[in-house]
Amino acid sequence: MYRAPIGTHDVLPPASDRWLQLVTAFAERASRFGYGLVVTPVFEHVEVFQRVGASTDVVRKEMYELTDRGDRRLALRPEGTAPVVRAYVEHRPTPPWKVWYLAPNFRYERPQKGRYRQHWQLGAEVLGTDDPDVDVEVIALAQGFYADLGLSRVRLLVNSMGAPDDRGHYVEVLRDYLVSHGSDLGEEFLTRAREHPLRVLDAKREDWQDVIERAPQLTEHLGLEAREHFEALQRGLDALGIDYELAPRLVRGFDYYTSTTFEFVSDALDAAQDAVGGGGRYDQLAEEMGGPATPGIGFGIGIERVLIACEAEGALATPEHRLDAFVVDTVGDGSATALVNDLRMAGLRADRAYGGRSLKAQMKVADRAHAEYAVILGRDELTRGTVAVRHLPSSEQLEVHREQVAAWLRERCEGGARG
Ligand code: HAM
Repeated sequence: MYRAPIGTHDVLPPASDRWLQLVTAFAERASRFGYGLVVTPVFEHVEVFQRVGASTDVVRKEMYELTDRGDRRLALRPEGTAPVVRAYVEHRPTPPWKVWYLAPNFRYERPQKGRYRQHWQLGAEVLGTDDPDVDVEVIALAQGFYADLGLSRVRLLVNSMGAPDDRGHYVEVLRDYLVSHGSDLGEEFLTRAREHPLRVLDAKREDWQDVIERAPQLTEHLGLEAREHFEALQRGLDALGIDYELAPRLVRGFDYYTSTTFEFVSDALDAAQDAVGGGGRYDQLAEEMGGPATPGIGFGIGIERVLIACEAEGALATPEHRLDAFVVDTVGDGSATALVNDLRMAGLRADRAYGGRSLKAQMKVADRAHAEYAVILGRDELTRGTVAVRHLPSSEQLEVHREQVAAWLRERCEGGARG
């Protein structure tokens, strides 16, 4: 028996309806904000990621790397920002370049609920401006997405990583502090403090928390420019009425971040995997990839985690009916094919049974398909030029003229509003 690889999953109907709802809502919202869809390859030259994340776990330890038959070293994308910046540098579109994406990402992590080896992200990136208004816009794009889904337990955390110089100085201060105050916390702590002092800040180990909580904060070490940018961001969020919490210990998992960083966490999820989205500025990345100096900012939202949060909060109602009409054919002369086609052409969601099954069997299929109406083709009705229409939830049935049935259903169905 073949199974999907560990840490991956299939998305099947009807569960995929929710998936589609998320994607559609995001696409619609992004286009309202002026973002165009960008599609980049699932694999890239390995350097695209190595350059931007030489010291991060995602790139060092979790990346799926392969060598193709032409001896090229490639990597399945572990995240979406580096490919978009690579595409920007390659094609040089006119800035500001505002794009959104839907893409799978691959990370060799230990799978658990909310953490997978393949996960999907909805994301957005803006290249070509360091205006803090764009930071506000990007955050508003994501924040309203969660709100529209009906998620009320999502909190926004914001922080600033400062300019690279600010950070370099702060990392030294932090390392000294951690090494001198954590001397009795053991070798693992000290190694991490020496090698990746920033990564100590978001460690979840209980016994480290005392030292972490009293650690110096990066926001106290920001240079003038970064401080002004961070203040402008906060004023912008206030002006839009977007709630946020300052999170001086928020450390995001990539090297490329500068200035604004943010994360959306859901209190409906387990604390270990509570981030339903995150992002920030990467003002140096385009240049590091060999392009012109081009500031950028964006975020990624984990589809699976948002769906878990929706489930936990009872949000994202699925429509009661997956079909407007199910055509039940007791005649078998080809009129069912024409009728289903007419309904579909009229913009209704319509389906039918196949293989000349009994009336009872077809009605069962109509029920299972969550259709709102069954449209029954019978011999008697056929001679009268009508069809029987049964409202399945109430079992009320009446006769409608064959030529009018599409218009009749359109007036009454959820799906009739479309198309
Ligand atoms: P990230 O924080 O690594 O950022 O991922 C973004 C979101 O993807 C997370 O908040 C989470 O919801 C989801 N996610 C990440 N890893 C997994 C996993 N193993 N299983 C399930 N869901 C996961 C980035 O990837 C950046 N590219 C975001 C960004 C865009 N920064 C600037 N622009």
